[in-house]
Amino acid sequence: MTTKTRSDRPPKPLIEIENLAFRYGQDEDEPLVLKGIDLTIGSGEFVAIIGPNGSGKSTLAKHLNALLVPTEGSVRVDGMDTRSKEHTWSIRQRVGMVFQNPDNQIVATVVEEDVAFGPENLGVETEEIRRRVDLALKEVRMGDCAKNPPHALSGGQKQRVAIAGVLAMKPKCIVLDEPTAMLDPVGRSEVLETVRRLCDEEGITIVYVTHFMEEASFADRVIVLNEGMVVLQGSPRGVFTEVELLKGIGLDVPEMTELAVRLRRRNIDIPADILTVDEMMAALRRVWEGRGV
Ligand SMILES: Nc1ncnc2c1ncn2[C@@H]1O[C@H](COP(=O)(O)OP(=O)(O)O)[C@@H](O)[C@H]1O
Ligand SMILES: [Mg+2]
Repeated sequence: MTTKTRSDRPPKPLIEIENLAFRYGQDEDEPLVLKGIDLTIGSGEFVAIIGPNGSGKSTLAKHLNALLVPTEGSVRVDGMDTRSKEHTWSIRQRVGMVFQNPDNQIVATVVEEDVAFGPENLGVETEEIRRRVDLALKEVRMGDCAKNPPHALSGGQKQRVAIAGVLAMKPKCIVLDEPTAMLDPVGRSEVLETVRRLCDEEGITIVYVTHFMEEASFADRVIVLNEGMVVLQGSPRGVFTEVELLKGIGLDVPEMTELAVRLRRRNIDIPADILTVDEMMAALRRVWEGRGV
C-alpha cells in the first residue's frame, strides 16, 4: 500500500458557493443574474472564469469578497458566511480584488504609499506596514519603482502595484476581474506571469476573470459561465476541446485547438487538446514521420 502525500489530497476548500442566486433589484420581477451556482474553490488553486459579456462573471467575482451577497443560497469564505456583517472585514482581508481599470485603483501619489493604503486601513502598525510594502513590491517585481509617481507607470506596472496593494493585506486569495483588458500584450503577460508565480510560490489562491482564452489556459481549472450558470468546467485542455459548446455561446477557442479539431475531422491523427503552435508542430511532425514523409 502506498502512503498518500500531502499533494495527493484535494486542496482544502477556501470558497464554498452553494446554490447561489442573485438579482440586482429588490423586486421579484427583476431577472436573476446568477442562477443556482455551485462551486468550490480550493486553497492554492488557480481558477479562470470565462464567459460572454453579461454572463455574470463580474457579479460572481463580487460575491467572493462580500461586495455583493446572495439573494438565495450561500457563499462561505474560510467558513465565514458572506451575509453575516460581522465577518465582512475578515472576508475582505482574506480575499482582495483587482479590477479592470488600473487608474481607478490608484489612491496615492507615490507607489509605496499606494501599497501601504490597505494595511493602514486595517490598523497595522507602522513598522509592519513598512515590511509588508517592501515585500509586496518585491513580489510583483516593482521594488525599484517604490518612490515613483504611479501615474507615470505603464498599465502592466500599475496593475502590478494594485496586486502589491492587495498582497500587503496578506490575503489568502486574489480575485482579478479582467485585469489585462486595458493593457498591451507586454503588460498582459507581466500581470499573468505575476499571478501564476504568486500561486505557485506563495500558495495564494487566484480567481482570474478573463475573456482571453490564451490567458485562461494558464489556470489549473477553467469555469465557463453563460446566462448566470456554470455550463462547463475542467482543465483548460478539457474545456477548450468543447469547441461547439464554446462557439455556441459566442466564445473563441484557442486557434490551435480549433485547427486540431478540424484536422481530426479529416482523419489526421493528432490529439484534440492542442493549445499552442509548438504543440501543433510537434504533433504534425509525428504524423509526417509516421507516414515516412
Ligand atoms: N449594477 C447593476 N445593476 C443592474 N444590473 C446589472 C448591474 N451590473 C450588471 N448587471 C447586469 O447583470 C448581468 C451580468 O453582468 P456582469 O456580471 O457584469 O457580467 P460580465 O462581467 O460577465 O460581463 C448583465 O445582464 C448586466 O446587465
Ligand atoms: Mg465583467
